[in-house]
Amino acid sequence: MQGIHLDISGTENFVTNEEIKAMEEEILKAHDMLQSKSGKGKEMLGWMDLPSNRDEDEIKRIKECASRIQKQSDVFVVIGIGGSYLGAKAIIDLFSNTFNNMLTYNQRKYPQIIFAGNNLSGKYLRNLVEYLEDKDFSINVISKSGKTLEPAVTFRTLRLVLEEKYGIRGACERIYVTTDKEKGILHDIAVKNEYEMFVIPNDIGGRYSVLTPVGLLPMAVANIEFEDILDGAQFASYLYNDRSLELNECYMYAAIRNILYRNGVNIELLASYEPSFKYFIEWFKQLFGESEGKENKGIFPAGVNYTTDLHSMGQMIQEGRRNIFETVINVEKDRSFITLPELENDDDGLNYLAGKDIDFINKQAFLGTVKAHVDGGVPNMIINIDDINEYNVGQLIVFFEKACAISGYVLGVNPFDQPGVEAYKTNMMDLLRKEN
Ligand code: PA5
Repeated sequence: MQGIHLDISGTENFVTNEEIKAMEEEILKAHDMLQSKSGKGKEMLGWMDLPSNRDEDEIKRIKECASRIQKQSDVFVVIGIGGSYLGAKAIIDLFSNTFNNMLTYNQRKYPQIIFAGNNLSGKYLRNLVEYLEDKDFSINVISKSGKTLEPAVTFRTLRLVLEEKYGIRGACERIYVTTDKEKGILHDIAVKNEYEMFVIPNDIGGRYSVLTPVGLLPMAVANIEFEDILDGAQFASYLYNDRSLELNECYMYAAIRNILYRNGVNIELLASYEPSFKYFIEWFKQLFGESEGKENKGIFPAGVNYTTDLHSMGQMIQEGRRNIFETVINVEKDRSFITLPELENDDDGLNYLAGKDIDFINKQAFLGTVKAHVDGGVPNMIINIDDINEYNVGQLIVFFEKACAISGYVLGVNPFDQPGVEAYKTNMMDLLRKEN
């Protein structure tokens, strides 16, 4: 089967047809609010039109800049935090070699990509500066507000390193800024210094921005066919607009997670058996966490990487408090990357698996775990993807974005703001000013 398909059979013991029927009405109300742009945060719905409203000039400029960055850099540093980096990191990890940053430029065919400005660790920044000392590098600093402290601190530091290395003019050719169209400190710095600039549209929030230049420029540097991702996203925008819950798997997912939440199951674990989904799970956590966690409400989004985490979190999931449900991303294609060799003396007793694809073994772990978890009282949904390709990943992005918006409306919150994030910032700024 092609594309993405939701399997809800693992929720049958926990969710009734009557509950789904009753929830359908609320989902459709949320759908109507989204379509008529009449719900909370209605001014932040630009992400819905992104895949179809492509700016061809911008796409051309992104590709040109990516090619320039590839030529001028051993290392490309993407500076940003939250929605300003997670999407790009997630997609690049999905499509690149597991040991990408350890390969040579010639093996990779593009610069090493390092994400920075997503923490305030002195060790991280110091080590980065030391690492860059003998490398040719360029920077893409991404911040919609243009004033977030983590990327700002990193940008100031690396901008000076660039200026010392290449002079003011040379540095200018290596700094790419992605920010607001007309306001903000970063915007002003970019204009004043004539840095190459890309715009995050006003009506798109950070966590919904992966298909804007925020995600597209880093993807292009990593040689990812981002137009295929946009095609998949465009198809998904059409597919997941159907008013029928039966036909619209995105809405069915939103419905079931809300039913479970109302039944006291308030933690969602997004799980994958493929380690390269690690940052996709981080992207998901941010998308749902910042969108739904408001007014003392919200499903707590968590993530697990299997089978690794079966050896750390498995016990808790299997037998802990029954307030967890699991959504598993399952990649169906058997890739035959590597099979287990046969050993003549079979001293490790594994010959019964000899010749088997490691992905096949992983698949049995997946099937066995789903059964154990469902039997143990953990409702389970499976998002089956036939293959990890650009088109499917585009579809998956919209699946989660749309489900998140609909879920937020069903929950009764504004899924497009993040007022709670300000609290720590205010305290931190007060403390930093006091210290001065
Ligand atoms: O989703 C969001 O809005 C946030 O996670 C932001 O992306 C994050 O706080 C970074 O903000 P900015 O891009 O303004 O630096």
